[in-house]
Amino acid sequence: MTAINQDQKEFWNGAGGSSWVSGQEEMDRFLSPFTEQLMKHAVPAAGEQVLDIGCGTGDTSLRAATAVGTSGHVHGVDISQPMLDLAKTRAASTGAAQVTFAVVDAQSEQLGDAADLVISRFGVMFFEEPVTAFKNIHAHTKPGGRMVFICWQPVRENEWVHIGLGIAKKHVEFPPPPDPHAPGPFAFADIDRTLGILGDAGWKDASAEPFSTRLNQGSSARDGAESLMLRGPISRVMMDRTDAEKEAVLSDLADAMESKMVDGKVMLGAGVWIVSATA
Ligand SMILES: C[S@@+](CC[C@H](N)C(=O)[O-])C[C@H]1O[C@@H](n2cnc3c(N)ncnc32)[C@H](O)[C@@H]1O
Repeated sequence: MTAINQDQKEFWNGAGGSSWVSGQEEMDRFLSPFTEQLMKHAVPAAGEQVLDIGCGTGDTSLRAATAVGTSGHVHGVDISQPMLDLAKTRAASTGAAQVTFAVVDAQSEQLGDAADLVISRFGVMFFEEPVTAFKNIHAHTKPGGRMVFICWQPVRENEWVHIGLGIAKKHVEFPPPPDPHAPGPFAFADIDRTLGILGDAGWKDASAEPFSTRLNQGSSARDGAESLMLRGPISRVMMDRTDAEKEAVLSDLADAMESKMVDGKVMLGAGVWIVSATA
């Protein structure tokens, strides 16, 4: 029998985790518009107990720790040991004693003390059994506690993803398209299904607000193309390709980025859902 979420555990403790660890500063900068939205909607308050699901290298846990202060507590959980190692180092360097981290599977394991607030920045779309996972998260939330998470809208609403995939398709053969609801970055893009999952798991008043922005990919066309190759679905598609294939895609991507320059930056569209619910 395969362990729960085994494929995800391998990915986030292997190639996926390594690239998030080595690119942490760049990734946090890239995702900062969504961090602001998450904090604006979640509003962690002084003294609160916060649970950060799939907290990765800790950016949102550290932001919440500042908001709850020393009378509060933030518990970040994740299945990736290397990402949590970096999260712990970052917490130690800020001296924030009110934040703790644990390597646990949010779908099925203990998630610490009951939370006033559950948050997640793109950390909840990877469960094999999402209803089971959200029941487990609900069981670790105080009655009336709130949850706010950010997940991606469909690929067609995310230029930073589809522009690269469109170009890569001209150069390399793609595997058959995966089940759109399979664990992965876009598993919650179908928002009616996502809200239904939350309802089935016992969450009340589940709702979603769309948010769209432009993400800064770099300060030159080549820069933008190189950073795009490192992120999202294209990075998985191109991971095991030959150097010649990678260079062909990179070169076409850089050409495409020329028309996306705004004030010296490559800017590409991105769309997410800000999902809220009450326990
Ligand atoms: C796209 S990354 C986001 C990381 C972090 N929230 C951020 O924004 O920097 C997804 C994260 O979810 C974590 N994850 C995936 N499945 C999980 C599970 N079953 N339980 C806990 N964390 C999980 C991964 O290890 C990874 O760190």
